[in-house]
Amino acid sequence: MKIRILETPQGVARLVAGTLWQYLEDGAEHLGLATGRTMVDVYREFINMARDRHPGWNWDPIETFNLDEYVGLGPQDKESFHYFMWSHLFSGLSLTPGQTNLLNGLARDLTAECLRYEDLVTCKGIDVQLLGLGTNGHIGFNEPGTPFSARTHVVNLTPATLEQNQEDFLDRIPPRYALTMGIETILSAKHIILVATGASKAKALYETLIGPVGPHCPATALRLHQDVWVYLDQGLWTSLGLEARDYEMADGISLKGLED
Ligand code: GLP
Repeated sequence: MKIRILETPQGVARLVAGTLWQYLEDGAEHLGLATGRTMVDVYREFINMARDRHPGWNWDPIETFNLDEYVGLGPQDKESFHYFMWSHLFSGLSLTPGQTNLLNGLARDLTAECLRYEDLVTCKGIDVQLLGLGTNGHIGFNEPGTPFSARTHVVNLTPATLEQNQEDFLDRIPPRYALTMGIETILSAKHIILVATGASKAKALYETLIGPVGPHCPATALRLHQDVWVYLDQGLWTSLGLEARDYEMADGISLKGLED
């Protein structure tokens, strides 16, 4: 794991967006994408860079694969991840619906839908996977206790996640179930970028970086992957209460300076 600390969350968003562009320039075609508040700024920066630095970019070979979706919500539901992706990213790029892959939260047979998506991801392969971090350490919607061997599956969301999700569902109760790529599915990506900003992520990030590796904190599975970059802001770094040398001591983690 390699860590980049930026002075502000905006700096994090800019660098992550720039890094995604670098992967595209180096030939990446299959992007694994995440939702959540952290990604809103990343996608805004990404769209700005598309307009300012890459006009005329050939989007034809590009395909996207989202991590997860709520059960019972369709693309027209404002709280669905379909809707999130179109409003925050896809509509700002020249992508057709056929190039954007998401789990179908309205599928009648959810198990069959998970198998379809798992086959798709396995067959196409993800070049670079973007991840946010849940305050309970989840990645995608892989909740604490999920085995690292999990592939795409149906999830019964934990009370902590339901509480976190309630902030996005102003006038109704958030769905109790979701579909998500599994941990093993996520780990099959060639490159992974984990983005965490704000002190509310301190406990989960601390566990992720130096806690014991295990299903109690799904994000610790990332320590088993060859190429993970973690991007965070200085405020979050400070709230971890760690010295740089703690990192040097943790297995293979390197720290790449404070910058903006
Ligand atoms: C949801 C998503 C995750 C995301 C997490 C963090 O739970 N399923 O994929 O990483 O939220 O969200 P935020 O960036 O809003 O903190």
